Formats: sequence, structure tokens, C-alpha cells
Amino acid sequence: MATSEQIVSFLQQRAASAPSAQELMSEAVALLQRERPSYHWVGIYLLQGKELVLGPYVGRPTPHTLIPLGRGLCGAAAASGNTIVVDDVRSDPRYLACSLETRSEIVVPIMRDGRVLGEIDIDSDAPAAFAPEDRQLLEAVAEVLAARLP
Ligand code: SME
Repeated sequence: MATSEQIVSFLQQRAASAPSAQELMSEAVALLQRERPSYHWVGIYLLQGKELVLGPYVGRPTPHTLIPLGRGLCGAAAASGNTIVVDDVRSDPRYLACSLETRSEIVVPIMRDGRVLGEIDIDSDAPAAFAPEDRQLLEAVAEVLAARLP
């Protein structure tokens, strides 16, 4: 299992050489899922106007391909610009269900110059799967992606 530093430094190199932002995002979600077994669904939403549009993802298909700003955990994170970690999605009334197996979730905004461009969304089938190290890793990955997003 790669360390957080290895993951971030690999993606920094790919940010400089990947042919497109789309390609970089696809590589990032695949890498995160491969290196962190508890990350069962890993996706990126991009903010377009007042909606979050699902971009590259790995995991089970989700019905939530478009999420209005402010709806669900995804919409709340994008509206506030703050990371949201939910240890038990069943006890959070904001949660929009993607899969019945999901137990915990983290949503990390991708920001540039104080503006939300999108977010990294990760679901786990394990309760409380996201520790402070995960948050740090994903905030660093979001920073790498932010530099390359249009
Ligand atoms: N659970 C999210 C919806 C997106 S799925 O997890 C892929 C939410 O509450 O916004």
C-alpha cells in the first residue's frame, strides 16, 4: 500500500504530464481506490453553474449523476467549501443514498483561489472509515487536481 506522500507525489508528476484534466482525474480515482481498500466508491463531481456533475468514478454505478448545490453531503460540501466526514451515513439526514452498503463518506472540495471547482467524494462500506490521515491525503490530492482543472 502506497503512503500518502507517494500517492500525492505520483499525482503531482501526472498533473504535469497527463494529456488532459479528464485523464488526470480518471487516474486519480483509480489510484485512490487501488491503494486504499476501504475506499469502495471514489468519484469526482465538477461544479457547473449551480449543479454538481459526476465526472470520472470507480465503483458501483450511482443514480446521483447531477446534484444541485446544497443537496446531500456532496451539495453541502460544495456550498460551504469545507470537507465533510460522516462516520455513519445512516444517521445523517443530509445523506443521499447511492448504495445500501455504504456506511461512511468523505467529501473534499477542490478549490482554487477560494472558488469551488468540484469535489472528491468517497464512500466506504465500513463505518467510520475516514481518519484524519485520509482527510489530509484527500485534501492534498484535491490541491493537485485544482491546479490542473479548467
Ligand atoms: N452520498 C452523496 C451522493 C453521491 S453518492 O455517494 C455517489 C451525498 O449525500 O451527497
